[in-house]
Amino acid sequence: CQLASASTVLTAKHLLDVETGNILKNQYLVIDNGKIIDITANKSDLPSDAKIIDLGDKYLLPGLMDMHTHVVQNLTKSFYARFFQSPHRALIGGVVNAEKTLMAGFTTIRNVGAADYQDVALRNAINAGEIKGPRMAVSGPSIGITGGHCDNNALNHSFKQKSDGVADGPWSVREKVRLNVKYGVDLIKFCATGGVFSKGTKVGQRQYTFEEMKAIVDEAHTHGRTVAAHAHGTEGIKYAIKAGVDSIEHASFLDKETIALAKKHGTYLSMDIYNTEYTLAEGEKNGVPQENIDKERQVGTVQRESFSNAVKAKTKMVLGSDAGIYPHGDNAKQFSRMVRFGMTPLQAIQAATINSARLLKWQDNLGSLEEGKFADVIAVDSNPLKNIATLENVSFVMKNGEIYKQL
Ligand code: ARG
Repeated sequence: CQLASASTVLTAKHLLDVETGNILKNQYLVIDNGKIIDITANKSDLPSDAKIIDLGDKYLLPGLMDMHTHVVQNLTKSFYARFFQSPHRALIGGVVNAEKTLMAGFTTIRNVGAADYQDVALRNAINAGEIKGPRMAVSGPSIGITGGHCDNNALNHSFKQKSDGVADGPWSVREKVRLNVKYGVDLIKFCATGGVFSKGTKVGQRQYTFEEMKAIVDEAHTHGRTVAAHAHGTEGIKYAIKAGVDSIEHASFLDKETIALAKKHGTYLSMDIYNTEYTLAEGEKNGVPQENIDKERQVGTVQRESFSNAVKAKTKMVLGSDAGIYPHGDNAKQFSRMVRFGMTPLQAIQAATINSARLLKWQDNLGSLEEGKFADVIAVDSNPLKNIATLENVSFVMKNGEIYKQL
């Protein structure tokens, strides 16, 4: 197909087809208006005036996708900084973190939990082209029980502190979902168990009744929003899956029955198996309280075993790093751990591309290099199927047909 007008053409010696694992040689991606409009190996198909960007020996892949981030966050590593810096200051951190994430090759992220709809503002500024960052699917405030992992329990009662998304009872949680929809979220996040980094919650403890979880999911799905449930403990994971959530975040304590349940319901698991290393190495230095370090020790090893079992059982999985616990831009460090704990390099790449696109229901536009999809493309210097850690050093980043990085 000879094309009439000048368009950008991107080429390199290798292109990874993430669906099949085939490495295609010397493909030309014809890009117009932010989209891939043609993929051809035949140079004579190209428009005569096309501007060709030739990346030589490199490997082209679809832009990476991280399904669990907290980009809106102040820039200091200190655990207590959040108490002294305003949400406005944290949003400025978000601007910086979003750019770092994009430069690391992550052209799409899900942000799961932000006060004051900071993440909605960030997403909108990125989409308007005002600042550099990945495509964002955002949740706004996480919904959670009073005193639960998604509440803020650090200050004593006289401060009357309560997180934006705290709600108890089926109708109250429906109202929170409606409020989040009103203010522009793409998905709903809620806490179905306690967590590592909250005060006074137990990782194994379920939060919300089944009735409340069902109400959240029903209301969210009614409004075309997917649902991500934070859940470490087995009972909370099971309740959330049965309530119909789209993804389980962390999924630390998985038994056989729970894995079978996730498979039956087609629930995606988003397991942040890298950041345990960061917390155990750096947590104390950053001022993470002993309670939280102890809880990290409770989940770290078990979560990695659960991950291996879920991979063996062929459960649907995505890459979710929980960047924010560790530095933004290091998201790709999780790939090598996903391989160490049982995935093939291709499975790990699929988790961060096509599977993530399906979880977001954005697979018609994202997740693979195909005609008709957005031109979100990265390049690395060596074969990621042989050396997965090469994804930690992305040398080219294109989003929506625009080049953000070219080394
Ligand atoms: N945000 C999660 C929580 O506080 C982080 C868990 C981190 N640890 C882990 N091994 N995945 O519960």
